[in-house]
Amino acid sequence: MKFETPAGINPIDQLRVIGKPTDRIEGPLKTTGTAKYAYEHNDEVSNPAYGYVVGAAIAKGRIKTIDQTKAKVAPGVLAIVTAASVGALQQGKFYVDRLLAGPEIDHYHQAVAVVVAETFEQARAAASLLKISYTKTKGVYDLAAAKDSAPISRQGQSGPLRQTNVGDFDGAFASAPVKLDETYTTPDQTHAMMEPHATIAHWDGDMLTCWCCIQQLNWGARDVATILGIPQENIRLIATFIGGGFGGKGTALSDIIAASLAAQAAGRPVKLALPRPLMMNNTIHRPATIQRIRIGATPDGTITAIGHESWSGNLPGGGVESATASTRLLYAGANRFTQLRLAVLDLAEGSAMRAPGEATGMMALEIAMDELAEKLNIDPVALRIKNDTQEDPEKPGRKFSSRKLVECLQTGAGQFGWNKRQAKPGTVREGQWLIGMGVASAIRGAPIMKSAARVRLNREGIVTVETDMTDIGTGSYTIIEQTAAEMMGVTMDKVVVKLGDSSFPTSPGSAGQWGAASATSGVYAACVKLRDAVANSLGVRVEEAEFVGGQVRGGNRSYPLGDAAKATELVAQDEMTYGTLSREYAQDAFGAHFVEVGVNSYTGEIRVRRMLAVCHAGRILNPKAARSQIIGAMTMGVGAALMEELVVDKQVGFFVNHDLAGYEVPVHADIPHQEVVLLEDLDPTMSPMKAKGIGELGIVGVAAAVANAVYNATGIRVREYPITLDKLIDKLSINA
Ligand code: MOS
Repeated sequence: MKFETPAGINPIDQLRVIGKPTDRIEGPLKTTGTAKYAYEHNDEVSNPAYGYVVGAAIAKGRIKTIDQTKAKVAPGVLAIVTAASVGALQQGKFYVDRLLAGPEIDHYHQAVAVVVAETFEQARAAASLLKISYTKTKGVYDLAAAKDSAPISRQGQSGPLRQTNVGDFDGAFASAPVKLDETYTTPDQTHAMMEPHATIAHWDGDMLTCWCCIQQLNWGARDVATILGIPQENIRLIATFIGGGFGGKGTALSDIIAASLAAQAAGRPVKLALPRPLMMNNTIHRPATIQRIRIGATPDGTITAIGHESWSGNLPGGGVESATASTRLLYAGANRFTQLRLAVLDLAEGSAMRAPGEATGMMALEIAMDELAEKLNIDPVALRIKNDTQEDPEKPGRKFSSRKLVECLQTGAGQFGWNKRQAKPGTVREGQWLIGMGVASAIRGAPIMKSAARVRLNREGIVTVETDMTDIGTGSYTIIEQTAAEMMGVTMDKVVVKLGDSSFPTSPGSAGQWGAASATSGVYAACVKLRDAVANSLGVRVEEAEFVGGQVRGGNRSYPLGDAAKATELVAQDEMTYGTLSREYAQDAFGAHFVEVGVNSYTGEIRVRRMLAVCHAGRILNPKAARSQIIGAMTMGVGAALMEELVVDKQVGFFVNHDLAGYEVPVHADIPHQEVVLLEDLDPTMSPMKAKGIGELGIVGVAAAVANAVYNATGIRVREYPITLDKLIDKLSINA
């Protein structure tokens, strides 16, 4: 089915199941520990061996020798895999990291060997007996030092430069009566999902089956095929449940390649998980940025010039952190300039994490707006409203499909009690605590991707949905079940959803906040086909057929749905594809974040006291699941604001704090009262579901809202994330 014109009324609009705050259907499996993650498929694979990945102990250079003498004869050892033993591997299409290094080493903890043994402990012990000698070469690890020589990034390897120019930015900025020109930094960050990267690999002749935790299984199968040099048809990936991804498990990483090679070498299935201390330097991370923002405005707060430049680094051939993405769309302003520069760094690969680009860029832009508001002596909410635009500011005439940023800001301001905020910072005190409020806008692209599904109907009236979509803890199972139940006129207990198997029809997987909107639309398309098949089978005219209460009505008759499959199971498969609406309209989700903090005037300790998110993302398929997504994202935003930083050792070239003791993420005690308001509004330009993604919207802007609240509390402006107390304590003269 191709979606080419805005959706009219369709069965989803009945809202018998869609739009209800439904509990997650897999919740009981998870709370009872019976949901199986990659490493736990023990019934499917008998007698597995255990793999242990060894990471490089240098950041840049070559392996001279790997002496296996002792490791080979250690108890239980079955095989040792190195680049020398398996030959050069190809690179996948998405990540540039070489997933088994040697002899060249590109970054610290890049995989250099996999040891396979009867038990995990034996594999780990033997790994410690490998004697690896290296020749070190000089690497580049310091973004600030590499910044000035970093070239403008390109689209792909040789495509257009990643910069935009509208009007005359330089002229307009130079002549603006009020100017802001500030630089902000965001650190390297790691996903820190609960489940580590893990795979069980099993070969049956030429056929490779992997139980894994990859967010986009179709990319995973494609990349495993390329990297190992085997046909994609010979690969089956299964990811029934994924314990968080946050962009860190997009496609094949070292665990699946190591497990597959190890299983081949050992002639046995191999299970393997990356130990936590390996993950930060071995896999991907969100790269650090340096961002310069310049905004020119007239005294009434009208932006006349807006410029945003961002620098980040990556391995050779790796991508840039597109931190300017939101600035291109969020505020009006006739003269505009953005530019992305990319330095080559010899750190682990930088890639997608938790709203890549937008989250990072808005950490800077939304502090800049707060600073501009202060210079103008205008309320920060009012400044944002004043510069709202209903069309793409780079392409006048191209409308937003729907955009309620102003309503998000106004609703939030009212509900949060924004009118109680004191514009003068450092003036509200409760005992030893300084209290402040901050606001930020949120915008996140709402991409929609082609997605396929198969639906089956049996004589009992049970509808089974199959797609390779994953559920990374977001609620995919539940909203897909709701979609099929709505379309087929049955209750949710009559629907079975099977996900996370690459042998099922191809979805775009879970990423980029496209999962929910795209995967449910694919299920919609397949269900339209199944409805046709049902009507045909029952001899009912399709146009007359009504699917309700487990019955099919038409021509004054009513049949149980299952009657259509009396003779044989009905199977329908289809894919939803898209025309040009996403080019005709700017399709984005919007929000506003409000935060109240307390800062201890003696210690500089920061406590978030209240948070509110108001979100606008088309139809809300399941308000309960959507709210959970936003709350999780807000929590991550607090992490980005106050805690999260991979500290680079600029001499040796690695992330020092590579475990969850040193890399801090928020815990329950850090998270205060959180509220979410969903401003529902159907977007018929998106798909028949009329929904947009919401998962990543919830983090975008949050860190800046926290930063702005800290400033409002203390009068101390921190432009280097994370905002830790050492950056405040010297300046807290207020308490003296
Ligand atoms: Mo997401 S960071 O695009 O999985």
